[in-house]
Amino acid sequence: MEKMKACVFHGKDEIRVEEVERPRAGAGEALIRVTLTTICGTDLHIVRGEYPVKPGLTIGHEPVGVIEELGAGVTGYNIGDRVLVGAITPCGQCRACLSGQLSQCGHGAGYEALGGWRFGNTINGAQAEYLLVPNAQANLARIPDELTDEQVVLLADIASTGFSGAESGGVKIGDAVVVFAQGPIGLCASVGARLMGASLVIGVDGDAARLEMARRLGVDVALDYREVDTVAEIKQLTGGGADVAIEALGTQETFENCLRSLRPGGTLSSLGVYSGKLQMPYDAFAAGIGDYRITTTLCPGGKERMRRLMEVVKNKRADLTPLITHRFTLDEIGEAYRVFGERLDGVMKVAITP
Ligand SMILES: NC(=O)c1ccc[n+]([C@@H]2O[C@H](COP(=O)([O-])OP(=O)(O)OC[C@H]3O[C@@H](n4cnc5c(N)ncnc54)[C@H](O)[C@@H]3O)[C@@H](O)[C@H]2O)c1
Ligand SMILES: [Zn+2]
Ligand SMILES: [Zn+2]
Repeated sequence: MEKMKACVFHGKDEIRVEEVERPRAGAGEALIRVTLTTICGTDLHIVRGEYPVKPGLTIGHEPVGVIEELGAGVTGYNIGDRVLVGAITPCGQCRACLSGQLSQCGHGAGYEALGGWRFGNTINGAQAEYLLVPNAQANLARIPDELTDEQVVLLADIASTGFSGAESGGVKIGDAVVVFAQGPIGLCASVGARLMGASLVIGVDGDAARLEMARRLGVDVALDYREVDTVAEIKQLTGGGADVAIEALGTQETFENCLRSLRPGGTLSSLGVYSGKLQMPYDAFAAGIGDYRITTTLCPGGKERMRRLMEVVKNKRADLTPLITHRFTLDEIGEAYRVFGERLDGVMKVAITP
């Protein structure tokens, strides 16, 4: 039995890098040797005990790697191919997938939410030397030779999610878009809004380093919610309200601010993960007759999504590498969690090399 190193969750505030059994690729699966991964805000929720996963699970869901083994039935790939795998791994065959809801793939025959998020949630994840990829035929996206691991690692989750905020919001050429929160997800949503043709992108945050990064990535106006009345400022900048407001934090306050920033008939595109009850403010909701659209999105995955995102980067439509501010080895991942979790030293995203 061969061994490998992996970052294993043992309970609240308890993760350890340890030796675990190296998996073998079964039918329909692939084993990849992970060459780069990262830590997501959602991993912090797991480590802090705010999102339940079972003890003993290897966490992480953003893998870049090289194919080490191909299981029976996986065709068109070779051992040694460099691949990116999305955080969400749809099967491409179930009721949800074949209804076009790939992220909701899986359990309950497509009825329960989050089914497509498996890595580091319901199966072992990417913060390890090797990773078993389920439904490999639908999920291995070959990386173009000209792209480095760092150029693609953020596409697996935060870029796919952030861009989807703009896509689900139906941003049109000439739209004014506001994005509440400029963490990694919100920054990618801002970049996505520009890609979709927004003529004005307003980013809101209260962290100077993040507002600075927002400007660097192309946000037109970066508003500090600690200093200005954001809703009033947005109404003024947009001549009456944004066409699309993207929520990228997951709180009542930002959800409500999104709604209040919209013009009548505008779209609220929500990406945040909320806890507890979310309430609808009667006035901002125009008593239910404001023609608002409210949409929510789970990170799109699958090899075709990853291929498209890699084309975006390859053809220089977007560059997310400035978001990778810190680098660690897998052995140092405890320190990486500390720096990322406590937002020390201006950290945005960390790159982890097994
Ligand atoms: N929909 C999905 O598929 C998906 C995928 C990944 C993450 N998420 C969720 O997206 C959210 C954002 O993730 P992240 O990694 O960017 O988070 P993050 O914690 O790194 O960033 C949050 C940002 O919000 C800012 N902020 C705090 N209060 C604010 C306020 N009142 N107004 C404006 N900004 C404020 C903070 O300064 C910070 O920059 C989280 O809820 C996360 O769980 C969703
Ligand atoms: Zn994530
Ligand atoms: Zn499916």
